[in-house]
Amino acid sequence: MTKVCRILTQDRFDKESIITLLNAEGSDRDLLFVKATEVKQEYIGNKVHLRGLIELTNRCSKNCYYCGIGASNKNINRFMVSLPEVEKAIQFTYNNNYGSIVIQTGELQSESFTAAIEDILQSINKISDGKLGVTLSCGEQSKETYQRWKNAGADRYLLRIESSDRELYYKLHPKDKKHDFDTRLAALKSLKECGYQTGTGVMIGLPFQTIENLAEDLLFMQNFNIDMVGMGPYIEHIDTELYKYKDLVPSKEKRVDLSLKMIAILRIMMKDINIAATTAMQTLIDGGREMALKSGANIMMPNTTPGLYREQYALYNDKPGLDEEAEDSKQSIEKLINRAGCIVAYGEQGNSKHYKVRTS
Ligand code: 5AD
Repeated sequence: MTKVCRILTQDRFDKESIITLLNAEGSDRDLLFVKATEVKQEYIGNKVHLRGLIELTNRCSKNCYYCGIGASNKNINRFMVSLPEVEKAIQFTYNNNYGSIVIQTGELQSESFTAAIEDILQSINKISDGKLGVTLSCGEQSKETYQRWKNAGADRYLLRIESSDRELYYKLHPKDKKHDFDTRLAALKSLKECGYQTGTGVMIGLPFQTIENLAEDLLFMQNFNIDMVGMGPYIEHIDTELYKYKDLVPSKEKRVDLSLKMIAILRIMMKDINIAATTAMQTLIDGGREMALKSGANIMMPNTTPGLYREQYALYNDKPGLDEEAEDSKQSIEKLINRAGCIVAYGEQGNSKHYKVRTS
């Protein structure tokens, strides 16, 4: 029995075991994916749940070193999708039976922003008669704001920790009040306390990131007892601080390999959570999201942002689907899911099973 084989029979992985799995090659690597597929089949099945994604605004008050929409980037036009346009996208998601909606934004903290999100939550409720599940991904906010949004109908919240390693975190963010590691951790805690299905995630293949860091990221997710995860490869953006370290970034192939292994290992560690097949995967390799589904992911987020804004929401370079209208995305997404041997769970919210178990 190989070391990997032995590890895969264990109930819990320690850091060393995870590192071994992340480094697995050849037939050992195959074993990891076979195990992840088995676990996914048993706990999740082959259904993929959809979330219609609206990238509401690229306005952002932060300056994360990796992100293309940081406040100091003067090379993009800032937009906020108007309420009637948002309502059109909500209607699209509802009409097409996607089951859930995600509202994603830059990080803004103001009363007018909080109220604008509340208005959108109300619209979602009204248009879908309360049937659409709602995920928010609007960054760090006060607990009061999180509670207001929860009360207004949000079910889930995704706040990536980006890296669970404090030292690496500060290589990716300015060391100031606006980018405080502890504040981010506290925000994640608040989300749980407010009763959200709570999601987090990291970027994979960052400059300065080690395999140890990635192993610790997975343990962080497990220790935090997270309900959902969105994680994907880091992709360079030319108008960012981190771009100058582009030579330290692993090859595309390596980032794809690591991202798929992260998904597979996490699926085995946290059997009943929701894991997203991210757009960043698709950016690095054609068929990337399909590969993510085959490795353990079960959630897809078709972009329903009105076409004319998509180009301005470039978190990283070469983002795909920039010129696609929502209708096109729907067809290609369905084909892709079928190619991965999965089926679309139309009309279902696809809430985190883990959340249900954890809160019952
Ligand atoms: N590459 C990959 N992912 C990125 N994100 C931001 N910038 C990049 C990048 N350059 C991710 C972050 C953020 C999410 C909205 O997008 O993890 O939380």
